[in-house]
Amino acid sequence: MLIFVALGVCNGGELRKKFYKKSCPEAEDIVKNIAWKHVSTNSVLPAKFLRMHFHDCFVRGCDASVLLDSTANNTAEKDATPNLSLAGFDVIDEIKTQLEKTCPGIVSCADIIALVARDSVSFQFKKSMWEVLTGRRDGRISVASQAVANIPSPSFNFTTLKQSFANKGLTLHDLVVLSGGHTIGVGHCNLFSSRLYNFTGKGDQDPSLNSTHAAFLKTKCTSLADNTTTVTMDPGSSLSFDSNYFKILKQNRGMFQSDAALLTNKGSRNIVDELVESKKFFTEFGQSMESMGAIGVLTGTSGEIRKKCSVVN
Ligand code: HEM
Ligand SMILES: *[C@@H]1O[C@H](CO)[C@@H](O)[C@H](O)[C@H]1NC(C)=O
Ligand SMILES: *[C@@H]1O[C@H](CO)[C@@H](O)[C@H](O)[C@H]1NC(C)=O
Ligand SMILES: *[C@@H]1O[C@H](CO)[C@@H](O)[C@H](O)[C@H]1NC(C)=O
Ligand SMILES: *[C@@H]1O[C@H](CO)[C@@H](O)[C@H](O)[C@H]1NC(C)=O
Ligand SMILES: *[C@@H]1O[C@H](CO)[C@@H](O)[C@H](O)[C@H]1NC(C)=O
Ligand SMILES: *[C@@H]1O[C@H](CO)[C@@H](O)[C@H](O)[C@H]1NC(C)=O
Repeated sequence: MLIFVALGVCNGGELRKKFYKKSCPEAEDIVKNIAWKHVSTNSVLPAKFLRMHFHDCFVRGCDASVLLDSTANNTAEKDATPNLSLAGFDVIDEIKTQLEKTCPGIVSCADIIALVARDSVSFQFKKSMWEVLTGRRDGRISVASQAVANIPSPSFNFTTLKQSFANKGLTLHDLVVLSGGHTIGVGHCNLFSSRLYNFTGKGDQDPSLNSTHAAFLKTKCTSLADNTTTVTMDPGSSLSFDSNYFKILKQNRGMFQSDAALLTNKGSRNIVDELVESKKFFTEFGQSMESMGAIGVLTGTSGEIRKKCSVVN
């Protein structure tokens, strides 16, 4: 009994399907309808929400700590360096406002993030692409330095990436599958331009980067210092959630060193090969998202249900 309780606290064992079925039956429809309304006019939002969910879960567990604003006393995760380009907070607020009108104090901000990540990505398919278990509760702490310490850097190598995921109870398989999230969205030049202009400090290029692709990237990112220009990570289908990330990765066109690193290990390379097949990718992605969505969750009576997602009660 005690063992089950202990496990439940750390691996999401207490999350379940349709947690709000009785307490707020419309909850999941409200999230989906507002998400779809916004995505239909703003096609970059799915990438924002998918990344927001990842950042939330990797720092203090999936507890909506990523949504808290800094206060006079505290610099929150939102204001940490890896926050670059996090967005969509206004949509989360609109969803929360509607949920508070319909069933006050019931639906957590942490569950909203998990649902909106799924629903926004699913918009292009007009059906849910993976299952989201619910019942998360919201944390009361958000610290910028913890974002820096827990979110993997785009310059990580295979060893440090694998360790970063292992620290969250995720496997090598999860690492490769979830990196497929980079099939949508953009990256800022300065996060990869050392690969183009100064890889080892000798004004050289990263030899593991496709030289045709490097030449293309150099037309977009014209200097090492450019921290405003963004480039699509999956050129040609950056708004489409598909397995194309793995196809371009195999052509050495992954944007970050962390993408390229997935080809530097045999086991990892084999997983990349498998995921080129889109049916396989979709199935595996759903499963790994379930694992990611369960990291360090607060359930039962832990934490709280925030009234407003950007501030603790
Ligand atoms: C494996 C370790 C990972 C590293 C090192 C990494 C790093 C990055 C970096 C540096 C960016 C660009 C941010 C910017 O320039 O604004 C980015 C974007 C993105 N990441 Fe990751 N990421 C990782 C894993 C993930 C995971 C697990 C997901 C979700 C399943 C994810 C989803 C995204 C998405 C959707 C974007 C695009 C955001 C946008 O368009 O604004 N990433 N990632
Ligand atoms: C901020 O610090 C002041 C003074 O130490 C304290 O009174 C206040 O409660 C703190 N606020 C928060 C949100 O921690
Ligand atoms: C990210 O952090 C910077 C400060 O480091 C802050 O100015 C900016 O508003 C933050 N972005 C978001 C989306 O919160
Ligand atoms: C990976 O990066 C870490 C930390 O920077 C470093 O200590 C390690 O030697 C690197 N591993 C490889 C195989 O390059
Ligand atoms: C390239 O890196 C080296 C070593 O870190 C540094 O001394 C040099 O200034 C860099 N070049 C540019 C153009 O930034
Ligand atoms: C971008 O670079 C400029 C100039 O170096 C710097 O002032 C600014 O703070 C940087 N912005 C971000 C978001 O890092
Ligand atoms: C480099 O990318 C091009 C497409 O831009 C592709 O045709 C080619 O096979 C790639 N080369 C390598 C070595 O992966």
